[in-house]
Amino acid sequence: MIKIDLTNIFNVGKHGLTQAEFAFAKKNLTSYLAKIDKQGQGFYSVIDDAKMPAKIEKFARAQKGKFTSIIVLGIGGSALGTICLAQSLQHLYENELTKRKFPKLYVLDNIDPVMMKEILDVVDLKKTLCIVVTKSGGTPETLSQYFYFRKLTDGKKLDARKHFVFITDPKVGLLRKIANEEGITTFNVPENVGGRFSVFTAVGLLPAALIGIDIKKLLAGARAMRGQFLNKNFSKNLPFQLATAQYQLAEKGKTINVMMPYAQKLIRFADWFRQLLAESIGKAKNNRGAIVNVGITPINALGVTDQHSQNQLYNEGPNDKLFLFVRVKKLGQSVVIPLLSSDAAVSYLKGATFNKLIDVEYQGTAQALTHNKRPNLSITIDAIDEFYLGQLFMLFEGATAFLGEWFNVNAFDQPGVELSKNLTKKFLLSSRLSF
Ligand code: PA5
Repeated sequence: MIKIDLTNIFNVGKHGLTQAEFAFAKKNLTSYLAKIDKQGQGFYSVIDDAKMPAKIEKFARAQKGKFTSIIVLGIGGSALGTICLAQSLQHLYENELTKRKFPKLYVLDNIDPVMMKEILDVVDLKKTLCIVVTKSGGTPETLSQYFYFRKLTDGKKLDARKHFVFITDPKVGLLRKIANEEGITTFNVPENVGGRFSVFTAVGLLPAALIGIDIKKLLAGARAMRGQFLNKNFSKNLPFQLATAQYQLAEKGKTINVMMPYAQKLIRFADWFRQLLAESIGKAKNNRGAIVNVGITPINALGVTDQHSQNQLYNEGPNDKLFLFVRVKKLGQSVVIPLLSSDAAVSYLKGATFNKLIDVEYQGTAQALTHNKRPNLSITIDAIDEFYLGQLFMLFEGATAFLGEWFNVNAFDQPGVELSKNLTKKFLLSSRLSF
């Protein structure tokens, strides 16, 4: 299971927490769990629906060998979990040198025409499956992407029922209407699961299964962490401990969370986390309707790369951050660094591996920050695989739900996003803006 080392939030004097104030938080655990339960959110119960992964796996088996490319049309919560899953896990199943066993996955997550054109330059639409993902069924970016790709496939006389799959709300939205009219295969996003919490629904699971990721193991990891999320024992509830650290430190002015995985394969996890935290907790009003303008600003960093980019700021700049390291115990096979010089200046590399070097650099970074009184905590996973990814997603989803309670805001809505969606539509209709 995932472990969290909180030592360095207690080791930084007035910039951190005392054990006593942290432990005092445990009195809220039971009532926060009850409040979360009352909201009826499905992100932690959807993982019990055995029918959904079975349906997805059946569909994925039936597509085997038909497609060389899969394009996910969608944005935000409809795209970021999939991007993370593909980046973290896909390497386990591919061999570029021999033959690609699974289709190549592209996730748009944008409407940049250059990007879309470049994807179209390298895919064969006759061998492409487009998965259109929009919970609301009305997001302008996603509908525009769909219309664009649909026109192209229609132009090639391709059967939309074979080249498109929709993932959307069970009842409402334009996509649902089109699916009903045209008989396009559609998977549901349960009504009580919001976009950024939907990685364990068809939104994340369908593309994952199509590229060969073991979705059952992913769900097993999620269930293991859900056990902790629902645990009323403070010492056994990692999501609550994490949220408590984030909240109490934010109250002490550490209003920025830097997520810094020490693994290239987890940088997209940091992107997923960034949206989850920003959109869930950044709110104008609290649950009583008072204006509070709260939030924690997420920043992404990558170990060791960003030690040579942001570390100076982190150590000596404003002391307004909590650092969340993600450390991987077994980062692939051990790779020895060959020592090709007898010069004393590089003798420290004797017998070293890249695996050891990256871990030592993480330890050095954490210690330097602690020395400079910068609170930091470390999340350790054994390996980057489905089981640990499932745990990681659920750890942060659970922590975010608790953060909503700490800040007394609705972690599951996004009125600010809705406003810009509506303004986009209004501008397009009224002024026909052009460069
Ligand atoms: O988390 C959210 O709710 C948002 O980021 C949505 O995922 C994003 O706006 C896309 O919405 P939809 O899935 O309705 O197209």
